[in-house]
Amino acid sequence: IPVDIFDYIVFGGNGDLAERKLLPALYHRDHDGQIPAESRIIGASRTFISDEDYRAFAKAAIEAHVKPENQSQVSVDRFLSRLHYREVDARSDTGWDNLKGLLDEVGTDRIRAFYLAVGPSLFSDLANKIAEKGLANDQTRLVVEKPVGRDLASARVLNDTIGRHFREEQVFRIDHYLGKETVQNLMALRFANMLYEPVWKSGYIDHVQITVAEEVGLEGRTSYYDKAGALRDMVQNHMLQLLCLVALEPPSAMNADALRDEKLKVLRALRPINSHNVEQRTVRGQYKAGASGGAAVKSYIDDLNDGESDTETFVALKVEIENWRWAGVPFYLRTGKRLSQRMSEIVVTFRPIPHSIFDASAGNVQQNQLVMRLQPDEGVKQWLMIKDPGPGGMRLRHVPLDMSFAASFQTRNPDAYERLLMDVIRGNQTLFMRRDEVEAAWEWVDPILNAWEDKGLKPQSYTAGTWGPSSSIALIERDGRTWHEPE
Ligand code: BG6
Repeated sequence: IPVDIFDYIVFGGNGDLAERKLLPALYHRDHDGQIPAESRIIGASRTFISDEDYRAFAKAAIEAHVKPENQSQVSVDRFLSRLHYREVDARSDTGWDNLKGLLDEVGTDRIRAFYLAVGPSLFSDLANKIAEKGLANDQTRLVVEKPVGRDLASARVLNDTIGRHFREEQVFRIDHYLGKETVQNLMALRFANMLYEPVWKSGYIDHVQITVAEEVGLEGRTSYYDKAGALRDMVQNHMLQLLCLVALEPPSAMNADALRDEKLKVLRALRPINSHNVEQRTVRGQYKAGASGGAAVKSYIDDLNDGESDTETFVALKVEIENWRWAGVPFYLRTGKRLSQRMSEIVVTFRPIPHSIFDASAGNVQQNQLVMRLQPDEGVKQWLMIKDPGPGGMRLRHVPLDMSFAASFQTRNPDAYERLLMDVIRGNQTLFMRRDEVEAAWEWVDPILNAWEDKGLKPQSYTAGTWGPSSSIALIERDGRTWHEPE
């Protein structure tokens, strides 16, 4: 779908996110012919960089993060010619007139999207300055990276500040997991098929598992991460968003408010975890030295290089949703850094059949499972029981109906940011978080953080390169279930 001419202004334009994700994503869309002529991308930060040096920075980013077959001289040159850079200080007047001059050069008709790819401590300052310096109009969009706050109170303050200058329709709170192909495919599977929805409920589903496992450690983000930890960094946003999409009632349409209304209902139905049940329902972990990808890696504390820390790099949770559809169906969530492999998936396990007509020689009837693999090698597998082919009588076998995206489709699998960046220009908020959603998520997360604190529950250590502390295995095995073994 074509988009209108725009100026994307990326604060933190020379930062890690811009380098790894935003510039390559915008390049891809330009390469695919989706960025209108005359549109510009303007990097900004406190550091002085010339336009020319910024183009060199972007060129290196493309070379490092875009596959060679998608790089062409013509596309790269065209993309680089769209780039500009301005030195701007969020906390003083430095640079703002200059940036405004650059923006006004092309008039005020085009869409302006300000992307705050900076630390959360600068969000309010930047939102205020953009408005006070007259850079925004009714068409302007503000894109806010996570984390939106570090608890409910700070999220409210931030949302209030933003809300003083921008209408909710102008605010795009990014959760890049919503832009991932498989996550969107979850919507297609659930709501473009007749097959699943009638059985998508407690009478038929035994439990759901959501795993987002990372092999990487801190990747240099020590100061942010040590203040956040896995619960704030991954669960409050990505994991709860995934849970919402699995659990929500069918929205009346695939539009922003219909979808977000339904997600909000799920968040509000989450059974509280607090000091009464925190020990039974949560596991915190922190990695110690071990091995990753065949190489020895340091402990979290050594990665921090700064004494002690009680920050968790792993969390596992048993979550319940208190409504008719999900009563009695636990959702087990786990995420962590320095785990055995990079692997994210949603596994829906159906209930056992009520009665088996087969005798013991046929083997066990195993439970049906729907496995949605987010990364790597995106795909969906529906595990079913069949008769083992050939002579030898009735022997049952558990096999997958397998749809691997790479094998089934030739198209390039776009990065989540590509779609989301363009959705901002289109003004489509379906895959972005609304204020009340973010706050409802914090409302559920805050009591967990408080209970850990009150009860002095420190993270348990796990060896880097494993699947986390053994108590996370006990968390699910206590209920007679096991974590889905990655294939
Ligand atoms: C980010 C977190 O939001 O998501 C990171 O802050 C994490 O800590 C990242 O590594 C994971 O994203 P992806 O797309 O690589 O799974």
